[in-house]
Amino acid sequence: VFRTPVIAIDGPAAAGKTTVSKAISDKLGIGYVESGRTYRLVAYHAIREHVPLTDEHALTALCHRMLSSSPIALYQTDAATARALRSPSVTRAVSVVAKLPGIRTAITDLTRKIVEHIGPAIVEGRDIGTAVFPNATTKIFLSATAEVRAKRRNRQEPDRGYAEILADINRRDELDRDRQHSPMTPAPDATQIDTTGLTVDEVISKVEAQCRLALTEKVT
Ligand code: CDP
Ligand code: CDP
Repeated sequence: VFRTPVIAIDGPAAAGKTTVSKAISDKLGIGYVESGRTYRLVAYHAIREHVPLTDEHALTALCHRMLSSSPIALYQTDAATARALRSPSVTRAVSVVAKLPGIRTAITDLTRKIVEHIGPAIVEGRDIGTAVFPNATTKIFLSATAEVRAKRRNRQEPDRGYAEILADINRRDELDRDRQHSPMTPAPDATQIDTTGLTVDEVISKVEAQCRLALTEKVT
């Protein structure tokens, strides 16, 4: 049977998932899907509509409402919304929303549908290789120490202090790692890359080599 080639990139915040995935998507001429963006969209709408983060029922209903309208359009947000999705308030709320099983199931379904729609793709998140695409062609798990990741994010967002960013990263790591439903953990067959001492280009080369190898193996 034909299976759409999928490259799964997982790992904690500021491990380099987005930077590496975009570069690989360009180099290999395949699609790119950022699953964290959908979780951020649910958190963003919950805040705007004053849905309490403790109300599982209301949050799940909000998520279903959002995804049932025009799911692919969720990816076509304007620049202001795109900025808001990365704001500290959304970043604080997102991992609480992402714990809820009803929301995880809905976003997993949506992510699969998007790939069905766009074809071969590199998909980044926390549970892509474990839960969303357990049969992915290639699985990569990027990591780095929390301190190095906080420094990287601080360079991207100089207005937020290093201490606040580090605290956010540690809190989110814990929530994402310890949740009951599809926690962040490397798939047993994932290649793990500790990027602490590596440059972006070094990580891209390693991931690209891994992807090309897997893609040719599947063809022959
Ligand atoms: O860019 P950054 O790594 O800071 O975060 P993101 O990829 O936008 O993901 C934001 C949050 O969404 C994560 O901290 C997780 O709580 C959640 N998420 C998830 O649970 N599963 C995914 N596949 C992707 C994101
Ligand atoms: O998507 P994720 O949250 O995992 O990380 P990112 O937004 O792609 O990367 C965070 C920042 O770290 C970016 O500015 C990268 O250029 C930088 N960086 C990296 O990703 N990998 C390295 N080995 C060194 C720096």
